[in-house]
Amino acid sequence: MATICVIGTGYVGLVTGTCLADLGNQVTCVDIVQEKIDRLRQGIIPIYEPGLEELVERNVRAGRLHFTTSYSEGLDNSEFIFIAVNTPTGTSQGSADMRYVESAARSIAQGLDHYAIIINKSTVPVGSGDVVTRIVRKNLTHSDVTFSVVSNPEFLAEGTAIQDFQHPDRVVLGSTDADAANKVAALYLPLRAPIVITDLYTAEMIKYASNAFLATKISFINEIAQICERLGADVKEVAVGMGHDKRIGKAMLGAGLGYGGSCFPKDVRALAHMADEAGLHPQLLLAVMDINLDQRRHVVTKLTSILGSLRGCTVGMLGLAFKANTDDMREAPSVDIIRWVTSQGATMRVYDPVAMQTGRETLEREGINLESITFCENAYKVAEETDALVIATDWNEFKALDMLQIHHSMRRPILIDGRNVYEPADMNRLGFIYRGMGRGTGPDPSILPSGDSTTALQLGLIEEDL
Ligand SMILES: NC(=O)c1ccc[n+]([C@@H]2O[C@H](COP(=O)([O-])OP(=O)(O)OC[C@H]3O[C@@H](n4cnc5c(N)ncnc54)[C@H](O)[C@@H]3O)[C@@H](O)[C@H]2O)c1
Repeated sequence: MATICVIGTGYVGLVTGTCLADLGNQVTCVDIVQEKIDRLRQGIIPIYEPGLEELVERNVRAGRLHFTTSYSEGLDNSEFIFIAVNTPTGTSQGSADMRYVESAARSIAQGLDHYAIIINKSTVPVGSGDVVTRIVRKNLTHSDVTFSVVSNPEFLAEGTAIQDFQHPDRVVLGSTDADAANKVAALYLPLRAPIVITDLYTAEMIKYASNAFLATKISFINEIAQICERLGADVKEVAVGMGHDKRIGKAMLGAGLGYGGSCFPKDVRALAHMADEAGLHPQLLLAVMDINLDQRRHVVTKLTSILGSLRGCTVGMLGLAFKANTDDMREAPSVDIIRWVTSQGATMRVYDPVAMQTGRETLEREGINLESITFCENAYKVAEETDALVIATDWNEFKALDMLQIHHSMRRPILIDGRNVYEPADMNRLGFIYRGMGRGTGPDPSILPSGDSTTALQLGLIEEDL
């Protein structure tokens, strides 16, 4: 059993602290937001993350998990101090804002009175481990105290955070102090995951490279989706056909509104910025970001290509969160789409199973006029008297809606399926004007090759049947 302090109780810090407590460690989570800590002490979880509430409750009850705003309380006897604070985009050039990490490092230095291993779990620019070392050394209250710094980037995804933490594909550790890295590795041994131990800079880079690669995969399939749409192919089936290739893999090949959230957008930007600062031209990363933004624009283009002017129209939106199973609204595609649609004079009706509160706050913060938006209690209410419906998040509850009822309640049955939840043929049969993302409607029969042109796909035999 180890004594651990986790700084920051957001998506990463709270999950990390709780899961480490669940492994039998003594964990104290520190946050500077009093309200968050007060709520956590009352058993109220400030974020939506499946399974987290039960896990927090179990470990608090077992006396292994504590919450405080006091660094001295958190640092007391801690052998391991995880920094898991936010690192949002800081400048218009895309660099990461390090002020929260720096502030955490200063507070650690002021409270530390014994040797400890400081572990950076926040996603930070390459070289930040050195920055943390310098800040801690410079601000130590007890100048004779020694410490080690280890980079331990986190790869969990919101919505599956607990599962991801408990069953990671790998654990990455970077340090100039091999002994410290090995001690952190020992914390993760019960998870039986591959552990990659490397130097500080490389560990920090592994995180950015991983996120940039996943974002690239998403933008790649979205570019293919655009081509599919023009040429009549169906990107959903293209992705199935590609994904069977082990070199490609099935993950991150869902064409749609592109990536959002608190990680991919800012991390791709920050990596491009680092490359730029180093005198390089990160053209692939720039294209990835361009394509991603275009996906959101395509939704508005699809709406205007059918409706003409949006002035006076009512557009419904199903889903606000940047993806399903989270209430996180950071860089959600829904926000840009709502901004553009309302700025063209349309009103909107919106619903999300869990992100209504964070959605309202985010839209307000983004300066979007809330008077043009009606927050509805369910998907069916959203559809009422709308001129078009946009699916922005693929929540499970949107996958089996009574689409006939939705159709009947709409003023005009236009469905823009930003997540390719429904099948074009099914929706056309119900009478919708359906537009997915990259869902071509098949070749013009006049250009079908003659002879044995009936393919497995044309017979509707895909994947399982083959
Ligand atoms: N959210 C994800 O899915 C995810 C996944 C992998 C990595 N990351 C990375 O992990 C880091 C944390 O992300 P997050 O989504 O958990 O952020 P978050 O915004 O949800 O939480 C950050 C928390 O840190 C607290 N905080 C800020 N400064 C503090 C300080 N000086 N002392 C104590 N607490 C402080 C904030 O009050 C907040 O509660 C980021 O660098 C992010 O890029 C996030």
